[in-house]
Amino acid sequence: MDRNTRARITSLYDTRLQRGYVKGKLASDPVYAATAALLAGTQLPLLDIGCGLGLLGHFLHAQGHRQPYVGLDHDVRKINAAQRAVHRAGLDAVMSLRHGDATAFPTLHGHVTLLDVLHYLPREQQQALLLMATRQLAPQGILIIRNVLREPNWRFQATRLEEFFLRTSGWIRGGVQHYPSADELRGTLESAGLDVHIESLRGRTPFNSYLIVAQPHR
Ligand SMILES: C[S@@+](CC[C@H](N)C(=O)[O-])C[C@H]1O[C@@H](n2cnc3c(N)ncnc32)[C@H](O)[C@@H]1O
Repeated sequence: MDRNTRARITSLYDTRLQRGYVKGKLASDPVYAATAALLAGTQLPLLDIGCGLGLLGHFLHAQGHRQPYVGLDHDVRKINAAQRAVHRAGLDAVMSLRHGDATAFPTLHGHVTLLDVLHYLPREQQQALLLMATRQLAPQGILIIRNVLREPNWRFQATRLEEFFLRTSGWIRGGVQHYPSADELRGTLESAGLDVHIESLRGRTPFNSYLIVAQPHR
């Protein structure tokens, strides 16, 4: 994403804290570009569970994607900020933001994203959510997950430290409940009939982040 587009999206947000976060995320996190590449050329609607400030929707639109985007988050402050940003951008017709829990989402037959959200749910809820998300997929739909995975390495410890600060600063309500392992995610998704691909996706961050792409057998 070029500097001007990044600055335009950043300016849509109310507070200095939000603008700093948005600018940093768009500049350094490869997850939005990776998601845009996977969704290229499709018009299927996208359900973004745990959408935060709705950055993925803005990124996709800036890259020329025009599929309907529905973002859901249980943090009302983030949803309010996201709604104002959508309105300022004049994207009310394509981007819709809803306040609610990850496990109570609107029915939508298309793609589903879960970017850096799963670990905020307890293990059993993660599995239930993955199965619910699977049922939202269209035959050509893709479930795109980005998450830190539980592994015995320093990157995992760095992630735990970052999450401690995110929780104590109030940016993330509740904090981490359970870090899934690759085997846990793969097992749940494969048993639901999906093909699963897992690869490292951490960009310039020190965190133990992975991209998990799951699709119905074709
Ligand atoms: C690290 S942020 C990621 C935001 C966004 N997916 C992104 O990548 O730009 C995690 C988001 O998940 C949301 N979240 C955590 N638990 C949730 C739940 N049970 N239901 C809905 N949203 C949740 C948080 O409020 C937060 O906005």
